[in-house]
Amino acid sequence: MIGALADLALPFLRTLDPERAHELTLRAMESGLYPRRTEADDPRLAQTIWGMNFPNPIGIAAGFDKNARVPDAILQSGFGFAEVGTLTPLPQPGNPRPRVFRLPADGAMINRLGFNNDGHAGALERLKRHDRHGVVGVNIGAGKDVQDREADYITGLETFFPVADYFTVNISSPNTPGLRDLQAPKELDSLLTRLMAKRDELVQSGAPTRPITVKLSPDIADDDIAAICERLVAHGVDGIIVSNTTLERNSLHAGPQAQETGGLSGAPLYERSTRLLAKVYVLTQGQIPLIGVGGINSGRSALGKIEAGASLIQIYTGLVYEGPGLTGAIKKALVSGIEHAGVASISALIGIKSDEWAAKT
Ligand SMILES: Cc1cc2nc3c(=O)[nH]c(=O)nc-3n(C[C@H](O)[C@H](O)[C@H](O)COP(=O)(O)O)c2cc1C
Repeated sequence: MIGALADLALPFLRTLDPERAHELTLRAMESGLYPRRTEADDPRLAQTIWGMNFPNPIGIAAGFDKNARVPDAILQSGFGFAEVGTLTPLPQPGNPRPRVFRLPADGAMINRLGFNNDGHAGALERLKRHDRHGVVGVNIGAGKDVQDREADYITGLETFFPVADYFTVNISSPNTPGLRDLQAPKELDSLLTRLMAKRDELVQSGAPTRPITVKLSPDIADDDIAAICERLVAHGVDGIIVSNTTLERNSLHAGPQAQETGGLSGAPLYERSTRLLAKVYVLTQGQIPLIGVGGINSGRSALGKIEAGASLIQIYTGLVYEGPGLTGAIKKALVSGIEHAGVASISALIGIKSDEWAAKT
């Protein structure tokens, strides 16, 4: 019944300003109005990663639930995990509106939100109350005007350490000027040295450890990828998320929205982010779990990410165009992919086409 309502709501939501539609979606989820998972996931979709159980590999990408308002609803609607944030220590309004644009002819969106969020305090209180059935990661970032960006990440790690199942260090949003400079090997060294030292300190004082992942931009120059991967491995990061939105605008249908400033997500990002994913998989020799994100809008594109090297995947823009039925469709396609390949479970498909993807230019 609620599934049918959700299908009816989609065309209506698309007539609204994207941010307004998003707020209505979050409010509906807060009120319990969302389609729930009706049956258990196929056990062949389950994986244990970082010692945690993921009943299926599909997560919701950062930015959907910036303030940790609905992590339990996300999990109950059938996702295998959720990621909340990006959260900065203090509340921020973000950039002036309008700042989110739909590009329906391209199955894409452009956003220049600029880390609008309510800050750490409220999200922490909400996460303390969540029912802990399922994996919820916390995506941390740095405030717009801060002098010491690294200090904001350290504060994020410390604040959410008791409640985050994993962390994402977001150094790849294109909408906070200068943030992506933190991906340069020297900056990365400095940030990761401090973060890992803080984690050691927290664990030594008795807290259970938490995996730390780093989220990369799809616009990293080809020549820089190897050095970045080398630093990530050297610092012992537990996961790499590939990728955030792109500044690239090739191949978009002409139209006023296509010229908007901001990060492009959705279908046009698929090839670019999947190529980088495969390159990272090859360079890290499949030793670090990767989360593939960017342009997934079907079972086929989801399977493609896994074959390129992703242990887990995340979606955002695909949900805007395909609706909540997308997760069920992806699960079906992944099970078919497992059967078609004659393997026992999804983990046997990870990276099987990474060389093919990585060779693409
Ligand atoms: C409206 C919007 C807001 C986003 N906000 C964040 C964010 O706060 N932090 C982050 O790491 N990524 C953010 N993203 C990027 C997504 O997490 C994801 O990396 C990107 O959209 C590519 O996935 P997709 O093509 O499935 O949307 C945002 C994306 C969109 C569309």
